[in-house]
Amino acid sequence: MLLVIATQNSGKLKEFQHHLEGLPWTLDLMPQDLEIEETGQTFLENACIKASQVAKQLGQWAIADDSGLAVDALQGAPGVYSARYGTDDLDRIARLLRELGDTPKRTAQFVCAIALARPDGEIACHAEGVCAGEILYDSQGEGGFGYDPIFYVPAAHLTFAEMTKDQKRAISHRGKAIAALLPQLQSLAI
Ligand code: IMP
Repeated sequence: MLLVIATQNSGKLKEFQHHLEGLPWTLDLMPQDLEIEETGQTFLENACIKASQVAKQLGQWAIADDSGLAVDALQGAPGVYSARYGTDDLDRIARLLRELGDTPKRTAQFVCAIALARPDGEIACHAEGVCAGEILYDSQGEGGFGYDPIFYVPAAHLTFAEMTKDQKRAISHRGKAIAALLPQLQSLAI
């Protein structure tokens, strides 16, 4: 069964392929000319909007994720605006550290919501994953992307940027969301 991912990011395609290995879904990126607006107020709303719009426009099963960083001392910001918080990763990190200042309250969560839509746009199932951590005062580590260098996971004693891909996958918000969705994906593919 063909499953279109509501993204043009080939990194996301690879990550989903890794997690869905062994399932009878063939994954593909959505066409470049599809315009999808993220107008939701929550990660789940955005994932549902994206999956549903892509499915309806293509008449295919579609899967979408929406993720971001929610910082407690900033009342959940940047949240659904994580990707739009600055011009590039460095700029977004600088803004976040500036707004946090030297407050000792540094707790934060990465959140990922994933939704699967049927070819008519109806949502078939969805799941959410959360990874708890702390925002450091400075970047640490060279790997990953986005806010990874300032997101420290106490349970692992590492930032996301210091982890191997497998380490991050095992505990990340995205890894947990996909794991939570897997049983539902399995039963739909039977
Ligand atoms: P989206 O889910 O593709 O819309 O991504 C939202 C934004 O959240 C990304 O552009 C990153 O800035 C941030 N983000 C989401 N997941 C991660 C992660 O695993 N590490 C670092 N930043 C992330």
